[in-house]
Amino acid sequence: MHHAEYIHRCLALAENGRGRTGINPLVGSVLVRDGTVIAEGWHAGFGDDHAERDLIKKFDQDIRPTDVLYVNLEPCCHHGKTPPCTELILERGVRRVVFGMFDPNPLVAGQGIQRLRDAGVEVIGPVERARCEWLNRGFISLMQQRRPWVTLKRAQMHDGRIAQEDGSPLKITSPEQDTWSHAWLRGKHDAILVGIETIIRDDPQLNVRLKNKKVEQFIPLRIVLDPKCRVPMDAQIIGEGTCIVTAQDSEVPSELEERGVQVLRIPFDGKQFDFCALWKALTTPKDDFFGITSVLVEGGPRTWERFRQAGDIDEDVILVGRAS
Ligand SMILES: NC(=O)c1ccc[n+]([C@@H]2O[C@H](COP(=O)([O-])OP(=O)(O)OC[C@H]3O[C@@H](n4cnc5c(N)ncnc54)[C@H](OP(=O)(O)O)[C@@H]3O)[C@@H](O)[C@H]2O)c1
Repeated sequence: MHHAEYIHRCLALAENGRGRTGINPLVGSVLVRDGTVIAEGWHAGFGDDHAERDLIKKFDQDIRPTDVLYVNLEPCCHHGKTPPCTELILERGVRRVVFGMFDPNPLVAGQGIQRLRDAGVEVIGPVERARCEWLNRGFISLMQQRRPWVTLKRAQMHDGRIAQEDGSPLKITSPEQDTWSHAWLRGKHDAILVGIETIIRDDPQLNVRLKNKKVEQFIPLRIVLDPKCRVPMDAQIIGEGTCIVTAQDSEVPSELEERGVQVLRIPFDGKQFDFCALWKALTTPKDDFFGITSVLVEGGPRTWERFRQAGDIDEDVILVGRAS
């Protein structure tokens, strides 16, 4: 096998942490001896061991100088919630490391690689850099733009319609398109965001469903922009895992929080939330909320427009349905 294939295995293992690592990156690691994977590890959740540490802790045999450690992100060299991975790698006698991308965290940014090379470790990389950076685009966005990665998604008919003329829901996408967007859009973002009018008119579930079955292991946070707190108490999204973003002076019924909904009060100028304040609140871990690094904005048009005006869009996806 080539280096790239072991890095692909690291990326698959990294997915185990999706929805659990909060503002931390998704990272997987494998140890290879004579062409065979002999140990695997991953970063399982916010505050948990990094992938290399997880692997090394689970592997109770001696590591040989010819063994190769693969990891999709440069090993860290700073003291964070856990001690530096570079030191553990050196202590356990790893002499060869292949990595997928540099860590965009300014506390690391190449220094992890340098530390290993200075200690005489053979380091190869970045290998499969584009794929590794794509997996961690949310983490990179947070480090470089101080906000999550934002994907706008809209579904429209060939003629441009996005709803019925009276505003009621219009089925636009095919089952194949739905499966794709649940697997590759909803299932690959930390949060799904909509405007309050979409909740009032469509009453969506905003979960991840594959072949019509709800996926239990990872449910993105549901975020509703609702400055005047108009959300109906019988909406399907009411419950744990939903965050209502509302103005600082809006009247919030106590039932919302009693039913597990997280309420976030953000400065509002009468038309628009302060996006900087919103991003800060959503990317700062607090209590049992570990933060998010990516958001799928599903609409409707007024919500899309405000993201366009703010310039906070990284990816634009349009699903076009067949004319009925
Ligand atoms: N085809 C599709 O892909 C798709 C997807 C979703 C929805 N839809 C359709 O879109 C229609 C609803 O769209 P819509 O444009 O009327 O409403 P919307 O975008 O769902 O909600 C707009 C409202 O959300 C609040 N809001 C959104 N962004 C905000 C921001 N940045 N700052 C502060 N408040 C913000 C405001 O609430 P206040 O009014 O309380 O100030 C705003 O008026 C429905 O017919 C639905 O079926 C289609």
